[in-house]
Amino acid sequence: MLQDGKLYIGTSRKPDDTNNKPEYLELKFGNRHGLVTGATGTGKTVTLQILAEGFSNAGVPVFCADVKGDLSGIGAMGEAKDFLEKRAQQIGLEPYDFQEFPVIFWDLFGEKGHRVRTTISEMGPLLLSRLMNATDAQEGVINIAFKIADQGGLPLLDLKDLQALLNYMGENASALSNQFGFISKASVGSIQRELLILEQQGAVQFFGEPALKISDIMRTTNDGRGAISVLAADKLMMNPRLYGTFLLWMLSELFEVLPEVGDPEKPKLVFFFDEAHLLFNDAPKVLIERVEQVVRLIRSKGVGVYFVTQNPLDVPETVLAQLGNRVQHALRAYTPREQKAVKTAADTFRPNPDFDCATVITQLGTGEALVSTLEGKGAPSMVERTLVRPPASRLGPISDAERQDIMKVSPVAGLYDEDFDRESAYEILMARAKKAADAAAQQAEADQVGQQPSGGSRWTLPGFGDEEPAAPKQAKPRAGYQRETVAEAAMKSVARTVASSLGRALVRGILGSLRR
Ligand SMILES: Nc1ncnc2c1ncn2[C@@H]1O[C@H](COP(=O)(O)OP(=O)(O)OP(=O)(O)O)[C@@H](O)[C@H]1O
Ligand SMILES: [Mg+2]
Repeated sequence: MLQDGKLYIGTSRKPDDTNNKPEYLELKFGNRHGLVTGATGTGKTVTLQILAEGFSNAGVPVFCADVKGDLSGIGAMGEAKDFLEKRAQQIGLEPYDFQEFPVIFWDLFGEKGHRVRTTISEMGPLLLSRLMNATDAQEGVINIAFKIADQGGLPLLDLKDLQALLNYMGENASALSNQFGFISKASVGSIQRELLILEQQGAVQFFGEPALKISDIMRTTNDGRGAISVLAADKLMMNPRLYGTFLLWMLSELFEVLPEVGDPEKPKLVFFFDEAHLLFNDAPKVLIERVEQVVRLIRSKGVGVYFVTQNPLDVPETVLAQLGNRVQHALRAYTPREQKAVKTAADTFRPNPDFDCATVITQLGTGEALVSTLEGKGAPSMVERTLVRPPASRLGPISDAERQDIMKVSPVAGLYDEDFDRESAYEILMARAKKAADAAAQQAEADQVGQQPSGGSRWTLPGFGDEEPAAPKQAKPRAGYQRETVAEAAMKSVARTVASSLGRALVRGILGSLRR
């Protein structure tokens, strides 16, 4: 049953209930994405577990979120249980060996895994707006904030950097509006309040450095197995938007960082999106379009994306159409919406003359599914009613002590545990503000002794740390000379900054994270 180039999913049944044939996912089509759906308790997480096991054994690194904590057992040796042995026997899985897998635990909050962070700059305006559920007006301001920061190479690392920049924008709204587009002070204020809420919800931990290096989730072991990154998501799920935005950011990073590889013999990475409805729930149309685009394009970077969700209707049709490998667990069909889901699910399969898909979907047992994968030249196989194999690793959660032991010997132990606060927008702007205050004090002094320094603007756009502090010019008062207003000075400064930094302006990709 264990064949090269193929991942064993389970064994299909004939209508008379005898074994039909083993069902596989072909690794060369692993980057053609997939879908695992089914009502609660029907076996989705176990299916995710055995798929992750199979990819890991084939040397493919895996990233998945552990929404209920019950996937963590994948890092521990499986244990003989009657119902598992029985399933193995039923499907002819011989021998049924137990195995523990190389797992790296991650956690945005740093409790159940290594810290995972990114910077505001790397996340970009589109996803940040989504995270904040921003209105159009707020999104406009966020876009301008990134424009100012990107053009000046101003690092926005954490939330306080963004707050500092927003403060600056609020105070110089009219001057900056001319250059960058309208900045509404009210919107700036409302974004600042939203940021405070986010901060209280724990997002403050997520933004900062050291930011996650994608190479750390693409590790393999010395014996050639792919590392399985398990993101602890139980606490994270309490903030569904943070969860969804984080996973989208990961996808976006992968897309920007990884090179084109065409269609490799096996994926470079497989990414499981559990509770996928949280990505798309009230997502703006433009975001859904971008996700669709990324999912389509990321295939040629060798990344397979697998959505896991209760209801196939949770995934937009344009995305659904791209998911080649499908495992459909049981669905209920009481309400009209449920009936529609059954019909949608049934209609997407290549029919099998032996049974009616829509009927069978409602009759499937636990750990049983309709399976269709890509085969041959990449066409979907005829759908088969399949008993999914039992996992080789432990079914259910591991203990805290076991988790700690795994984290201690993890290849990333110690790399992400401490915050690292390097000079960024906040510090630069604070230094600027202080300098401006000093300059103002100096000027007040100068005014007192009757001197009139020119160009003593109270505000300049921050030089982003790369300019020498301008020496206060002691120009002689000229006839008809008017001191430039704060706004004029700011405008000149913006123009200067923009002109001098065009060469290193940051470029953003489809989902708005940084191009590399
Ligand atoms: N392939 C399988 N082999 C043996 N037992 C299975 C298999 N799949 C599921 N089961 C049994 O069914 C139980 C529920 O499965 P699972 O946790 O995967 O459901 P789920 O669809 O993820 O549910 P939820 O929506 O609540 O997360 C498992 O704990 C296990 O006992
Ligand atoms: Mg589950």
